[in-house]
Amino acid sequence: MQVKDRSFLITGGSSGLGAACATSLVANGNRVMIADVNCEAAEQLIGEGGSKIAFKQTDVRNATEMQSAIEASLDIHGPLHGLITCAGILRGARIIGRDTPHDLELFREIIDVNLVGTFNAMRLAAEAMVRTEPDQEGERGVIITTSSIASWEAQIGQAAYAAAKGGVASMTLPAARELGQHGIRVVSIAPGIFATPMMAEVTPAIRSSLESQIPFPQRFGEPSEFAHLVEHIIGNRMLNGTVIRLDAAVRMGPK
Ligand SMILES: NC(=O)c1ccc[n+]([C@@H]2O[C@H](COP(=O)([O-])OP(=O)(O)OC[C@H]3O[C@@H](n4cnc5c(N)ncnc54)[C@H](O)[C@@H]3O)[C@@H](O)[C@H]2O)c1
Repeated sequence: MQVKDRSFLITGGSSGLGAACATSLVANGNRVMIADVNCEAAEQLIGEGGSKIAFKQTDVRNATEMQSAIEASLDIHGPLHGLITCAGILRGARIIGRDTPHDLELFREIIDVNLVGTFNAMRLAAEAMVRTEPDQEGERGVIITTSSIASWEAQIGQAAYAAAKGGVASMTLPAARELGQHGIRVVSIAPGIFATPMMAEVTPAIRSSLESQIPFPQRFGEPSEFAHLVEHIIGNRMLNGTVIRLDAAVRMGPK
């Protein structure tokens, strides 16, 4: 679909990769609703984006809150054309810790935010997009999820994150197969390492060790490079039912 004069909902759009998508989509003449738990960062984006950008405080795990965010998007920006899911958390723990085994509640929380939250947004946004008027090729909308290269080569301590992101990647094809009949495409992006607040806590030593594992370019990705791919996916109708690695050829080692 054209990447102009369209309405998008972005989970996790207050920060990092989601914020870069919000900024770029608005700059290109689209309307954006951010659904995120973080109000402060969203307010700054709203200040920059004017009336084209709105925010609804939303925990992606919560069905009622997610539905309210979609209804707010429909009320403010009209029919929905796309969902971009960027809400996520990164926590690490070994299966056998120093004193105790992996906390089961921590495992559940990581699955809940990253996987259940993505599915919650997908199911409700898809239902809303079915009511969007199709364009001349019958396209109603596009769903872009954020997986991770951890789906395939997660490091020690990332069992929960890998399970969640692998789940996000795996549901791409069944979702695309089902939603195709409604003119809705589904694509997942598996980022390598990007310079966002999620990665800001790594020490300079860990950062340079991570960067040394990246073939080229030997640096963290910029959020704008993620947003660039999102906009390409929106515009390219042949991209559907697939997971795209955006990773500068990095293949993470075990540690
Ligand atoms: N940065 C990377 O290197 C990298 C690599 C691979 C995958 N990812 C994935 O990309 C996505 C975006 O990450 P980022 O790097 O921009 O991180 P980030 O921390 O900058 O942004 C994540 C956003 O998700 C929001 N969020 C967290 N829990 C939420 C919840 N329960 N409900 C609603 N919003 C919630 C946060 O408030 C934040 O605004 C995540 O899913 C992350 O796992 C990031």
